[in-house]
Amino acid sequence: MNAGIGSDEIIEKLNRDHRIILEELLIVEKSLASKNPDEISGAFEKLLEVLKTKLQAHYLDEKNVVFPELDELPTKWPLKLANLDHDDMDLISSIAENHIESAARFKDEKKVFSAVETATKLIEFIKKHFRLEEDLVIPLCRRLNAEQRERIMKSLKGNGR
Ligand SMILES: [Fe+2]
Repeated sequence: MNAGIGSDEIIEKLNRDHRIILEELLIVEKSLASKNPDEISGAFEKLLEVLKTKLQAHYLDEKNVVFPELDELPTKWPLKLANLDHDDMDLISSIAENHIESAARFKDEKKVFSAVETATKLIEFIKKHFRLEEDLVIPLCRRLNAEQRERIMKSLKGNGR
């Protein structure tokens, strides 16, 4: 039996982050579909908050703590796919943020409509990205050795995560 940190602990942590973020995004999606301007602007606010707090923190855990350890493994391509997604996500998020902020500032109906579209697409992208990680990247954690698992959990805890 292997003492210490099991890979399941790390897998569970990453999957739990995904679940929590998805639950919030589901609420945002529902409000975005409403016809009520107040509800839509509340959805925009919530989406920006999720992007800047929970999603950002999770992304930094992956990028700085988990992925560098997975990169030591011989299988590289799932990580490459996830990293490409991360670059796209940065770009789409900043476009969505600009869209949403300008819609909020001008309260113009067309701008609001197009910001709703961008926000909806961003949420779809995040869902697809999480699925890719859950299917192909996170399971690679099972191949990490005991030292790597220790290092990951120590860093995550050090980050208050
Ligand atoms: Fe990710």
